[in-house]
Amino acid sequence: MKKAEMTGYMPVRLYTGAGCVMQQAEELRKLGTKPLLVTGRHSAKVSGALDDVLRAVDGPYALFDAIGQNPLLTDCMRAAELAIQTQCDYVIGIGGGSPLDAAKCIAVLTANPGMTQDVLYSLQWPKDPLPIAVVGTTAGTGSEVTKVAVITVPGGRKKSFHHEAIFPRVALGDPRYTCSMSSTSTASTAIDALAHATESFFSRKANELSQNYALRAVTLLMPELKKILQQEELTFDDREILYNASIYGGLAINSTGTCLPHAMGYLLTEQHGLPHGYACAMFLPEFLKINEQEQPELTRKYFTETGCSYGDWLDIVTGLLQEIHVEIPEEEIIREHSRWIGNGSIQKGWGEITPEACDEILRRISQE
Ligand SMILES: [Fe+2]
Repeated sequence: MKKAEMTGYMPVRLYTGAGCVMQQAEELRKLGTKPLLVTGRHSAKVSGALDDVLRAVDGPYALFDAIGQNPLLTDCMRAAELAIQTQCDYVIGIGGGSPLDAAKCIAVLTANPGMTQDVLYSLQWPKDPLPIAVVGTTAGTGSEVTKVAVITVPGGRKKSFHHEAIFPRVALGDPRYTCSMSSTSTASTAIDALAHATESFFSRKANELSQNYALRAVTLLMPELKKILQQEELTFDDREILYNASIYGGLAINSTGTCLPHAMGYLLTEQHGLPHGYACAMFLPEFLKINEQEQPELTRKYFTETGCSYGDWLDIVTGLLQEIHVEIPEEEIIREHSRWIGNGSIQKGWGEITPEACDEILRRISQE
C-alpha cells in the first residue's frame, strides 16, 4: 500500500499584502541594530520597496546596490566586505531572485570573513550566517520561502547551495512593488513560477503537501499567464495572484528542488543571456512530454486539478516563448555534454534521461 506522506519545513515568518513592510517594521528591527541592504540597480528604488524599508528600519544602515541579474559570487564577497567594515549585524535583500539569493550568500560570507568558494559550497561553515530578511519585488523566484541561493561563480556557471541556515527569518511581500515591472519581466518571472511548480509536481521527491502547493500555483498562474500573453493590462488583483502563486511555487520547490528545465535552463542564461524564467520555460514542453509518457496518471492529475487542458497549457507556454529564439551550435552541445552526466536535478525527474537525450533536447530547442 502506498504510504501517505506529507513532509515540510519552512521556518520563515512570512507576511504578504499591501503595506506589509511598514506594518511589520518591528519584525525587521528585531533582527539587529544595523542592516546591510542588498539590492539591484533599479527595481528596489523604482518599486518603492527601498524607501519603505528605509522608513521601517528607521536607523543606521549600509547599502550595496550593485547586484546584477545573475548575482556574482565576487559581488557577494564585495558586499560582505562592506557589511564587515560598516559593522552590519543583519542583511535585508530587496528585489527579485538575484538580490534575495545574494543576500543569503552575503549573510554567510559576512559571518565568516575570508571564506573561500570551496568552503561556501562545502556547507561546512564555521559560523552561522547573519539573520536574513527579504522583501520581494517580483513574482516568480519564491526565494522568500526557500533555503536555496543560486550564485554565478567565477567562470560563469550558475551554482546553487541549499542550507537551512539561509532560510530568511522574515519575508515581506507587498504585491504593489511588482506593479513597476516591465511586461517582459512580468512574463519571465511568472513563467519561472510555473516552472518551479511544474518541476516540483513531477519530481520524484514530491509529496502530498508539496504537490498541493504546486497545483495551487499552477491553478493561479495559468489564467494570469493567458492575460499576459494577450497583453491585457494587469490589475492589482492580478499582481497579487501572481505574487501568491510565486510563493506557492517556492513552497513546493522547498521540498523538492527543481528538475530538468532549471538544470538545462541555466545553460541558456549563462551562454545566451536569456532571462532565467524564459530560459527554464524553453524546456517545459519537453519536460511535460516526458512526464506524459512516464507518469500518465500524474500528468492527468496536473491538468484536471488545475482546470487547464494540455492544449491550452501548451498554447499559453509556447505563445509566451514565441519571441524567444536561441541557436545552440553543435560545438556547444558537445562541449556541455558532461554537465548532464550524473546531474542530480535531471535525475530527480521521472524516466531515464541520458546525457545523450539532453543533447537531443538542446538540438530540438535550438531548431525552434
Ligand atoms: Fe527559477
